[in-house]
Amino acid sequence: MSTKILVITGGSKGIGRAAVEQFQRKGYQVLNISRSPCDLAEVKNLALDMSDAGWDTRASALIHDALSPWMPEGRARIALVHNAARLDKDSVENVTAQAFADVMQINVIAPSQLNQILLPVMAKGSAIVYIGSTLSEKAVAGSCTYVTSKHALVGLMRATCQDLAGRGIHTNCICPGFTNTEMLRAHVGNDQSILDAIASGVTYGRLIEPKEMGKFIYSAATQPVLNGAVLHANLGQVER
Ligand SMILES: NC(=O)c1ccc[n+]([C@@H]2O[C@H](COP(=O)([O-])OP(=O)(O)OC[C@H]3O[C@@H](n4cnc5c(N)ncnc54)[C@H](OP(=O)(O)O)[C@@H]3O)[C@@H](O)[C@H]2O)c1
Repeated sequence: MSTKILVITGGSKGIGRAAVEQFQRKGYQVLNISRSPCDLAEVKNLALDMSDAGWDTRASALIHDALSPWMPEGRARIALVHNAARLDKDSVENVTAQAFADVMQINVIAPSQLNQILLPVMAKGSAIVYIGSTLSEKAVAGSCTYVTSKHALVGLMRATCQDLAGRGIHTNCICPGFTNTEMLRAHVGNDQSILDAIASGVTYGRLIEPKEMGKFIYSAATQPVLNGAVLHANLGQVER
C-alpha cells in the first residue's frame, strides 16, 4: 500500500492546480475531477460536472476504474481535497431557491457524495481536506449562498472528524483569504483597481499566490494532528 494518491476537485486551475503541482512534487499520483482538464503531465482527469445532483452515480465507477491501477490491494492512502466551488453574487433579499440549491450542490453536497464514493477505499493515513474560505466564519454583503455554503462546509468537516473517529483518517478545513485566481478576478469584474483595494486590506499588502495555498493544502493533508481543525490562511486581514 505504498502508492500515495491525491484525489482533488477543481484541479484544472487556481488553487487546485497549484495543489496538484505540490502533491506531484511529493510523489503523489493525481486524479482530478473538474469540467475542464488539469494541464499538468501525468494527471488523470475525469471530466465531470458536479452541479447535477445525480453526478455521483456515473462518477463512482469512473473514479474506481481510474484509481484501481494505483491500488493493487484495493485500498490506498488517499488525500481527498474538496476544492471546487461556485461563487455567485446574491443577497438574502433576492436569492432564489433554485440558485441556493445549485450552489449548495457544488459547494457542500458534492463533497459529501465524493466522501461516500471514496471512503470504502481510503486506508489508514488518508485525509479529507475541505477548502472553505475566510467566509466560512464571517460574512460580507452580496454573497449569501457562498457564505452559507462555506459555513456549512465547516460543519461537514466537524461531522467528518466525529464520524470517522478511530479510522486513522484525519480531516480539516482550510479557509483561504484573497488568492490571485480566476474566481477572485472574475468576481471583481477583472478590475485591477478593486484587486489593489482588496490587497490593501491584507496586512502584507498583496494577494496570496495559488502556490502558497498549494503548499499549505499539502501540509494540512499530511499532518494528522490537524484533525477537526479550521485553518485560516489569509496573510492577515486588516481589521477596520
Ligand atoms: N480565490 C480566492 O480568493 C478564494 C478565497 C477563499 C476561498 N477560495 C476557495 O478556494 C477554492 C478554489 O478556488 P479558486 O480561487 O482556485 O477558483 P477557480 O480558479 O475558479 O477554480 C475553481 C475550480 O472549481 C472547478 N469547478 C467549478 N465548478 C465546477 C463544477 N460544477 N464541477 C466540477 N468542477 C467545478 C473549476 O474547474 P472547471 O471550470 O474546469 O470545471 C476549477 O478548477 C474554492 O473552494 C474557493 O471557494 C478561494
